[in-house]
Amino acid sequence: MPRRAIYPGTFDPITNGHLDIVERSAKLFDEVIVAVLVNQDKHPMFSTEERVDMIRSVAPWPNVKVGTFEGLLVHYAIDQDAQAIVRGIRAVSDYEYELQMALMNRRLEPSVETVFLMAGEAYSYLSSRLIKEVFKLGGPISGLVPELVEERMREKK
Ligand code: PNS
Repeated sequence: MPRRAIYPGTFDPITNGHLDIVERSAKLFDEVIVAVLVNQDKHPMFSTEERVDMIRSVAPWPNVKVGTFEGLLVHYAIDQDAQAIVRGIRAVSDYEYELQMALMNRRLEPSVETVFLMAGEAYSYLSSRLIKEVFKLGGPISGLVPELVEERMREKK
């Protein structure tokens, strides 16, 4: 049976920190599904389709697929025959929230294991929210998101 993992998130938009986690998980699992949560934020910068499209363009690894999900993550994981959920941990401050989610997901579905990966140190302060804020206020974001994402952000201005 192939070892399949789900890497879930909002990805509004995908950052170089997210991509680092995708690359690391693609080395550990036979298949990784980057799963974009639908309809969480009422005012996202990018539509779900735009986010999926960008991720497909910047994640070239053959064993990485992109999907969307609604409802409970563990239901999606079971639906996709995935044994694991991958989450990136940047700093200690992420830990409490991630632990809560991992334990709740385990309670909901004990067969799905959460695996935490550490993003490279260079990305430890990155978040989609901060990048959008810096961008909207005219600050430079090159090196923080893939070039294609930066272009799409400029088109939104
Ligand atoms: O990129 P984010 O916002 O950190 O991702 C959060 C995400 C999508 C992983 C989380 O909100 C989620 O899994 N939502 C789906 C609903 C769900 O399953 N909730 C119970 C999890 S404890």
